[in-house]
Amino acid sequence: MASASEKDRVIIFDTTLRDGEQSPGASMTLEEKLEVADLLDAMGVDIIEAGFPIASNGDFEAVAEIAKRIKRATVAGLARAINADIDRAGEAVKFAQKPRIHTFVSTSPIHLEFQMKKSEAEVLDIITATVTRARNLVADVEWSAMDATRTSIEYLCRTVDAAIKAGATTINLPDTVGYATPDEYRDMFKQVRERVTNSDKAIFSSHCHDDLGLAAANSLAALEGGARQIECTINGLGERAGNAALEEVVMAIKTRGDKLPYVTGIDSTMLTRASKLVAAVTSFPVQYNKAIVGRNAFAHESGIHQDGMLKNQQTYEIMTPASVGVSKTSLVMGKHSGRAAFRDKLKELGYELGENAFEEAFNRMKDLADRKKHVYDEDIEALVGDEMNSGADPIKVESLTVIAGTQGPQLATLTLNIGGTHKTVQARGNGPVDACFNAIKALVPNEAELELYQVHAVTEGTDAQAEVSVRLGENGRSVTAKAADPDTLVASTRAYLAALNRLMVKRTRGPNAQAMAS
Ligand code: KIV
Ligand code: ZN
Repeated sequence: MASASEKDRVIIFDTTLRDGEQSPGASMTLEEKLEVADLLDAMGVDIIEAGFPIASNGDFEAVAEIAKRIKRATVAGLARAINADIDRAGEAVKFAQKPRIHTFVSTSPIHLEFQMKKSEAEVLDIITATVTRARNLVADVEWSAMDATRTSIEYLCRTVDAAIKAGATTINLPDTVGYATPDEYRDMFKQVRERVTNSDKAIFSSHCHDDLGLAAANSLAALEGGARQIECTINGLGERAGNAALEEVVMAIKTRGDKLPYVTGIDSTMLTRASKLVAAVTSFPVQYNKAIVGRNAFAHESGIHQDGMLKNQQTYEIMTPASVGVSKTSLVMGKHSGRAAFRDKLKELGYELGENAFEEAFNRMKDLADRKKHVYDEDIEALVGDEMNSGADPIKVESLTVIAGTQGPQLATLTLNIGGTHKTVQARGNGPVDACFNAIKALVPNEAELELYQVHAVTEGTDAQAEVSVRLGENGRSVTAKAADPDTLVASTRAYLAALNRLMVKRTRGPNAQAMAS
């Protein structure tokens, strides 16, 4: 494997603020753009394409502001092959320490015929004139052949030759419509670089759209063809299906150094932060299973995977969560989780259970996972707390059926296990909770007074567990107990019963135990 110093440096050109912002609905305010630009600069992006200055006054202002404040990265502004665009872009980036004008024109037959209505010869003249104009404004000019991948190689070479002769320092060959396959894209760069005599005077760049889900693969193939700049966006934001995702190309290069002998200047530990910021300011959520930055990218649920992870992280992880700025792997509890992972999770949460209590808690977790989409740490804490408190209780809920709704009366049919004997009763109530509590009173007659009844959701969502607190008072003493279950009525019944069990223990152990018992 090549050592770091032998690897070729790949320039990372981020276009989140330009192509990314062109995603329908992803527009950002000036303040949001500045925040994103600051983070891109801090994480080591080489070139920030800050916007399309001619598009609106807002875009112009954003590019100019970013140009003024960014001290390390190059700041680029986009311009069509039109004098007014180029002048406006030059005006916006002139404040930058390292300004770049990025100008483009279509080169494919379909664009020339239907969109531009120009001949190949006319477009060649336009390239020469516009690149020259841009070069008179700044020293760093990037020229893009829009729809390069659907352009004949012969004509593409003539356009590239003209752009370099006019002074372009970077040549971008975009797969504008996301149509190319990796080998085609690699070969296009190879051929253009071989055929154009002055190709060594420019850096070649890839710009891939993800219409076929190949944007990251195509960008990496371009490197093999000799490109040394990759245009990409955070979270793969961009026109239609988006652009190559910055986090994917950066981590592929970092993780597969054996196959991809390149380095970037990106601090990969900032990738998750950048992803979260861009998702927040654009209100474009990141898909859960998105490579590198999706919330499941370092989460393991199946028992086999969790078991492997506990033995050695490399069994199921090819990069560490820390390398992309995630604090740790998460073993998500679910119906596929095994005992080893559950024990590990309990340890992480600070619980140590005896064998019986552990088995009981494990079974309840599995049961919960069957009924609920996500089992969060809070759910586990609630059910383990429940188990620890009620494990030795002499009276337990065996089953409960409640009829509720607008057609009263509300009815609870409750079966309790009282010291090994099953007893069933049906009770009415003023509402379903009252019916449940009346059923308990019918089976376990008592004078305890309900002093507090409180319900709260353990987590968010309509399938969240309800955690119910019940305080019962008797003869000046009070006991409080909690229980959790996705069914509020089950949680209420269990909590009431747990409090009653505790009250009975107090009765038998209290100072007046003898007197009360008699
Ligand atoms: O996809 C594309 O071709 C572009 C150009 C403007 C570079 O975004
Ligand atoms: Zn694009």
